[in-house]
Amino acid sequence: MLTIEGIEKSAYKELETVKDRDGLEALRVKYLGRKGDLTGVLRSLKDLSEKERKTLGSRANKFKDKLQEKIDAKFLEFGEGDGVSNIDITRPGHKPSRGYLHLLSKTEQEIRKIFLSMNFSVVEGPELETEFYAFNALNLPEWHPAREAWDTFWIKPKKGGERMLLRPHTSPVQIRYMEEHQPPFQIIVPGRCFRYEATDATHDTNFYQFEGLMVGRDVNLANFKYIVEKFFEEFFKGQKVEARFRPSHFPFVEPGVEVDMRFKGGDWLEMMGAGMVHPKVFEAAHYDPRDFQGFAFGMGIERLAMIKYKIPDIRMFYSGDLRFIKQF
Ligand code: DAH
Repeated sequence: MLTIEGIEKSAYKELETVKDRDGLEALRVKYLGRKGDLTGVLRSLKDLSEKERKTLGSRANKFKDKLQEKIDAKFLEFGEGDGVSNIDITRPGHKPSRGYLHLLSKTEQEIRKIFLSMNFSVVEGPELETEFYAFNALNLPEWHPAREAWDTFWIKPKKGGERMLLRPHTSPVQIRYMEEHQPPFQIIVPGRCFRYEATDATHDTNFYQFEGLMVGRDVNLANFKYIVEKFFEEFFKGQKVEARFRPSHFPFVEPGVEVDMRFKGGDWLEMMGAGMVHPKVFEAAHYDPRDFQGFAFGMGIERLAMIKYKIPDIRMFYSGDLRFIKQF
């Protein structure tokens, strides 16, 4: 019977004298082919003791890899059958395709960058939220009719546990942050939100928002107006943007406003909800509302991207349609 040593020796010897591709192919079949010598050795392993099987098996496998490598190298040396190299140096190169960020991630990063440059910090919070942070602490007790505005995915609670939900907005992170920090501060909170509602061109059950919160001793709405206008100007690349406030109602702010913006000569576009943080919200976070005041706002990230890139339907972001994704 052939031994592995014997096979190695003769294979390497033959390899040295082989003269052309055909000879090389014959050699490959003889040693590495399905009915080849080495395969024979590997097949016979099953009759050996476990110890022998291990040493012999690993040696045979190493040899197999090495011989394959040498044969490959030799094939390259020989080139194509007509003796000419098989590398066509005139052939155009392949452009490797690289992954890149989805338009929404890119937009979120732009937003982060602009607010970081205005000395805001970026904070995140959980997508699975408790009823307390999502509603009660934001001055939305269970009986409050305004809760109707947030169509909610409730999660089946653990026995005796607190009610949980997929957060319908990023506002709960206001409370989480204030519980652990003292003013003055200014933060934004980008993140994913969920609502149980029918989808259309401007609504989806899954979307992104970012929350803003700035608190100090005398932070006011005029400060807010300056900051949103600066933000719009940066985000829309230096186009002159005007903002206006319209009175509105959100339980977690007083007064509450709706913020519209317009480009020079354009129509007003509704952009976000905002206002001065409600005293009850400060109380829920264990601040004394007589000590501090500040503004808060919440804006949709898709909405910003839709205006900037002229996208007609929010569902396109989540369609996975490459014709859409590859444009950005
Ligand atoms: N959380 C609100 C929503 O999702 C948006 C919002 C409005 C956030 C007013 C705020 C605010 O911080 O002050 O509809």
